[in-house]
Amino acid sequence: MAPPQPNTDPGAPPPAQGSPHEAAQRRDWVAYFDRMEGKPPRDTLLAALDAFGSVDPDAPPLALDLGCGDGRDTSELLSRGWRVWAQDSHPEAIRRLQARPGVEQALGDGRLRIAQADFVDLQLPSTAQLVNASFSLPFCPPDEFAKLWASIDAAIPPGGRFSGQLFGDRDDWAPLEDRTHLTRPQALALFDQYVLERFIEEDRPSTQPGEAHKHWHLFHIIARKRPAPSPPAPAQGHA
Ligand SMILES: C[S@@+](CC[C@H](N)C(=O)[O-])C[C@H]1O[C@@H](n2cnc3c(N)ncnc32)[C@H](O)[C@@H]1O
Repeated sequence: MAPPQPNTDPGAPPPAQGSPHEAAQRRDWVAYFDRMEGKPPRDTLLAALDAFGSVDPDAPPLALDLGCGDGRDTSELLSRGWRVWAQDSHPEAIRRLQARPGVEQALGDGRLRIAQADFVDLQLPSTAQLVNASFSLPFCPPDEFAKLWASIDAAIPPGGRFSGQLFGDRDDWAPLEDRTHLTRPQALALFDQYVLERFIEEDRPSTQPGEAHKHWHLFHIIARKRPAPSPPAPAQGHA
């Protein structure tokens, strides 16, 4: 399939040469990490952590940070007392994560584990109260996405949460063959066993300075898994 054509809308802002989004389009992750250096944790992660409230330091819950990049979200999870299993396929992501303050200590005391692994052959640890995937799952190839999502869903227990982003089908990157882009109903269907605490759809041309010259279509999601249905009450016999 042909790559997406550049947006030629004369009213749109000029192309942001060298923006992080252009680097992400090319999967030039080193350039992406350079341009995103020093950025704060993602809003979806912060809101999900606020929803959990404070954690018990004697029994810290586990979060998975999938496609963790240089660790902007992993650092926040650690600083809020969570245990973290951070994963990314790119060696430079792992190197930058390891260089962050507090990471060496967290590795030493067992609160952090780092996995350099591809979504395609990911083995998730059993259950995790939070699965965070900020702007990363769309980079899973479409024919592998259902398997990846099934393993994410299986890892989240009732009461656990997912936070992160999915890309929509009207995004300019949707024609790229190695990306997973979902329609709104497809994205919503992933969460039929969840309460949606946030489901914000962005569907807009680029308007902000510094972002790639493209049409954006994405979903910002925080979802809490519903309790398992209780088994039917035993039938009452007649006295
Ligand atoms: C747009 S960045 C997001 C990074 C970070 N979560 C953030 O919010 O800044 C996407 C991340 O997904 C990772 N990634 C891309 N394809 C991957 C794959 N097939 N398996 C695992 N990670 C992948 C990249 O290395 C990159 O760190």
